[in-house]
Amino acid sequence: MRIRICSVFLVMFTLAVSGLVVKQAAGQDPLTNLQVFPKDISRQALIAEMRQFAFALDVRCTHCHALGADGQGNDFASDENPNKEKARAMLRMVAAINNELLPSVPNRDDPPVVVTCKTCHRGTTKPRLLAQEMLLAAHQSGGQAAVNKFKELQSDFSDVGAYDFREWETNTVAEDLASEGKFEDALIIYSMNAERFPESASIWTGIGEMNEKLDRIPAAIEAYEKAVVLDARSPAAARLKELKAK
Ligand code: HEC
Ligand code: HEC
Repeated sequence: MRIRICSVFLVMFTLAVSGLVVKQAAGQDPLTNLQVFPKDISRQALIAEMRQFAFALDVRCTHCHALGADGQGNDFASDENPNKEKARAMLRMVAAINNELLPSVPNRDDPPVVVTCKTCHRGTTKPRLLAQEMLLAAHQSGGQAAVNKFKELQSDFSDVGAYDFREWETNTVAEDLASEGKFEDALIIYSMNAERFPESASIWTGIGEMNEKLDRIPAAIEAYEKAVVLDARSPAAARLKELKAK
């Protein structure tokens, strides 16, 4: 009994002293609600990690942290903001990728390539690809909404490098919409791409195909002709022959 009391006292004493030391060292309250980071991480090291999060997602601290009770500053220990728990799940996922999954890849570089928040997020909160963003917009509100989404992302993210604005990424959106039978929406996407890449035979072929599906034969012929001028080996040549023979 005496030993127990003694040890409890010792533990309390040690905690009090170490708490004091931490407070003195950092000049701030100790960290009270760490569930993923090691509990003895220094405040400075933790804040450096937090800055990386904010940078990777291009957000402020308040994206994951609740405001303080007085509406001023942040209550960093609170779990009220649901994005904080999402971020904990992300931390565990990234640890599993780096520590459990990647080590089984044969012949890795030394030092190995490490996955970080930014590997996926690239300055966005939801790390969708450009084609995924555009398809989502098209499914919700049609082809013009997808074009508007493209323009919005191109102007907002041009220096971030978060999206692939090259020709093919956007052509795949048109192909996907065409395979769903949404020829009018696909045509809107191809037409936007034709303005950006007027020298692409593939895009003019796509425009020809969509017009053919929509039974606009003169417009289809005109687009196929453009494709053939740009690339004599384009599949548009065969389509053109067939349409002209009719
Ligand atoms: C992407 C989400 C996210 C962003 C952005 C973020 N944090 Fe955090 N923060 C977390 C998570 C998750 C934890 C809890 C970590 C754990 O459980 O180990 C945490 C914990 C903390 C803690 C420890 C609180 C305690 O006492 O337990 C502090 C302090 C903190 N963050 C400060 C910041 C600051 C300052 C910023 C802005 C520069 C910031 N955070 C931005 C997700 C985020
Ligand atoms: C392997 C890719 C990948 C990595 C690495 C990754 N994330 Fe994510 N993250 C996602 C995906 C996918 C989602 C969307 C999840 C969903 O809601 O379906 C997401 C969503 C989130 C969200 C919710 C955003 C919101 O506004 O809804 C937060 C916060 C977040 N991630 C933080 C992080 C942090 C912090 C890291 C680094 C520790 C990280 N992520 C690393 C793929 C990743």
